Amino acid sequence: LAFEYVDNDNTANHNMWLIGLKNIFSKQLPNMPKEYIARLVLDRRHRSVAIIRRGGMVLGGITYRPFHAQGFGEIAFCAVTAIEQVKGFGARLMNFTKEFARARDHLTHFLTYADNNAVGYFAKQGFTKEITLEKDRWVGYIKDYDGGTLMECIISDRLPYTDLPG
Ligand code: ACO
Repeated sequence: LAFEYVDNDNTANHNMWLIGLKNIFSKQLPNMPKEYIARLVLDRRHRSVAIIRRGGMVLGGITYRPFHAQGFGEIAFCAVTAIEQVKGFGARLMNFTKEFARARDHLTHFLTYADNNAVGYFAKQGFTKEITLEKDRWVGYIKDYDGGTLMECIISDRLPYTDLPG
């Protein structure tokens, strides 16, 4: 099992993983228009972290947009394929995503609009409904989306989230 940082650089593996991820998001986030999911997952400004099983099958992932100058990332989509949920993959996925976001994108915060049924999951991963990031760093950068709860996670600059070299 591998947790891979994926951007749309047109390499064969990355293309395959992003399509797999798009399909999982489409199934697991039925309220999101499929075209919107496809557009963001393939958008070159977005990054994804994908859970890949040996053999290349995608089990889940997170897609986020780093706002480098503002120091934060917006998590657009997060999902694990149905038969693999509640086995701890979602927690490990978020830890790898924090590690990559810190090491590769130099982010200090994540923001996300959590679906109401996923607020508990995000809370367990260190997200709070209290937003500490100064408003002028994020208002106007992320799209307001009703039907979700805005949540924030501070990415520690030293906590080891995984055993990856940080
Ligand atoms: N509500 C409350 N707690 C939850 C939920 C939930 N919906 N889902 C997981 N948890 C808890 C688990 O109990 C576990 O707690 P523990 O560490 O004390 O044992 C912890 O969160 C991690 O659980 P995992 O097994 O790692 O989670 P999983 O692999 O199932 O992934 C996820 C969680 C991504 C939410 C998955 O269930 C999923 O894909 N759901 C459907 C899609 C979805 O709702 N995605 C989020 C939408 S919001 C967005 O994308 C911005």
